[in-house]
Amino acid sequence: MKKSLAVLVGMLALALLLPAINLFRGQPKGTVLTTRAHGDARVQRMAQVLEGPCADCHLEGVPRPFYAALPVASSLVERDKRVGLEWYDLAEALGPADGEPSEVGLAKLERVLEQRTMPPLPYLALHWRGGLSRHERDEVLRSIQQVRVALFAPRGLSQEVAGRVVHPLPESVPTDPNKVSLGMRLYHDTRLSGDNTISCASCHALNKGGTDQARVSTGIRGQLGGINAPTTFNAVFQFAQFWDGRASDLQDQAAGPPENPIEMGTTFAEIVAKLQADEEFRREFEASYPEGLSKATITHAIAEFEKTLVTPGSPFDRFLLGQHDALPAQAKAGWEVFQREGCATCHVGRLLGGRSYEKMGRAKDYFAARGNPSDADLGRYAVTRQEQDRHRFKVPTLRNIARTFPYFHDGSVTDLKDAVQKMAEFQFGSRLKDSDADRIVAFLESLTGSWNGNPL
Ligand code: HEC
Ligand code: HEC
Ligand code: HEC
Repeated sequence: MKKSLAVLVGMLALALLLPAINLFRGQPKGTVLTTRAHGDARVQRMAQVLEGPCADCHLEGVPRPFYAALPVASSLVERDKRVGLEWYDLAEALGPADGEPSEVGLAKLERVLEQRTMPPLPYLALHWRGGLSRHERDEVLRSIQQVRVALFAPRGLSQEVAGRVVHPLPESVPTDPNKVSLGMRLYHDTRLSGDNTISCASCHALNKGGTDQARVSTGIRGQLGGINAPTTFNAVFQFAQFWDGRASDLQDQAAGPPENPIEMGTTFAEIVAKLQADEEFRREFEASYPEGLSKATITHAIAEFEKTLVTPGSPFDRFLLGQHDALPAQAKAGWEVFQREGCATCHVGRLLGGRSYEKMGRAKDYFAARGNPSDADLGRYAVTRQEQDRHRFKVPTLRNIARTFPYFHDGSVTDLKDAVQKMAEFQFGSRLKDSDADRIVAFLESLTGSWNGNPL
């Protein structure tokens, strides 16, 4: 009895003392973060404002205050500190100094500032001046929009549209039409496989949303792959290629499948020999590529073709561009739910994805729930061998999502509503109301665009 009273008094004393100490301690202003953040003046100012109230939980290498070792205080904030950095790295969001800030990092920041959910309450209880002032908050929110307009939005949009978290797709990307035409033939050419049975289009069919609509792909001699084939439509806009980002761009990516033994099972030497023997093709190819057929020119032509796989004109894009009746009411409501639930913090930009690696199951263990572990689950870890990258995947685009089933890297989900509900469950640890899931699905269905004027 006496003992618990002592503990209670101790807790009370601490609860009053710590915030008081923190008042005097003040906040470290703009030291660690500003040096790591991008040099843009607006980003530097954001770093200055955020370092004080946010660094404790969202920056690596920040010294911990002495009281963090005390039992009561530490149990209150220790979990938040560990989980905070796992979820969000402020230096990564605002940097690197010699690169650019992260489109996803800014979207996440915008959402917590708009909803005023950060810092967490227990932290504020210990840091009476811990939050952002109204003025600081508005300033950061304005800066986010300005950075977006300057760095991420496609050209030619109004300031208002460009400042939003998602953008319409551009109509096209500049290309060389002759090289595109060669690339289109190579994309459909089965001579790119060892036994002349498989082309790129076998697994990325343009009449199947740029995928094979199968759980995993089938390569030469009926061999099954280990991972779901993503779409080639709009892939040009991704910041990296493959689920784990192991190719930096389309040309780099196109070098992979031909020499992959379970996909096309050949070598570029063999492919070049076969294509050289085709007089007519060789002549046409050399008209655009005087240096002749090689791994570099073949993959270049394929990538040039893939740059034309852009699908503008979806109902959602027409809505974004100001045509208010382009979106059915249910889809409009779905867009609101999509933002409110936080989906548009990872699924951002013109692709609604393709801008960052994110942990699958950050709020609840997806892999334990699913079972059957496989190497395909490693995600970005397969490239970096960094423990924090385990289960982190490039966020897939949601463009044309109604056509690119089944879903997830493991192709385990065939129904779009099921995929939406799993996202809420494993990324947020929440349950979507059935009617809200239906609304989101209606919104996602409005993301189907057109290629060469024909709806996908
Ligand atoms: C005491 C630790 C702590 C402090 C201080 C803190 N956070 Fe967090 N933050 C967390 C935790 C824990 C999470 C994980 C999500 C959750 O638990 O709500 C998180 C998540 C986030 C996320 C990701 C949200 C998402 O849905 O992806 C952002 C962005 C963020 N915090 C921004 C901030 C900003 C900005 C500040 C300063 C104004 C701040 N945080 C201060 C602990 C903290
Ligand atoms: C046997 C089926 C198969 C063939 C053939 C194939 N792919 Fe793929 N493709 C896949 C799979 C599966 C992935 C995902 C692999 C991964 O991420 O590890 C993929 C990934 C891609 C990506 C990355 C998309 C993204 O979102 O990251 C592009 C682009 C692509 N393939 C283009 C091509 C091209 C071009 C060819 C022909 C040279 C080709 N593919 C041949 C199955 C195939
Ligand atoms: C923390 C980042 C993050 C958030 C937040 C998020 N997603 Fe995702 N989403 C991902 C990642 C990563 C994947 C790929 C997971 C995998 O394949 O294992 C994905 C996959 C998907 C897919 C399947 C795409 C495909 O082609 O396979 C859909 C649909 C989807 N998300 C919808 C949503 C919806 C709806 C929400 C909001 C409820 C949401 N996401 C929130 C990161 C996120």
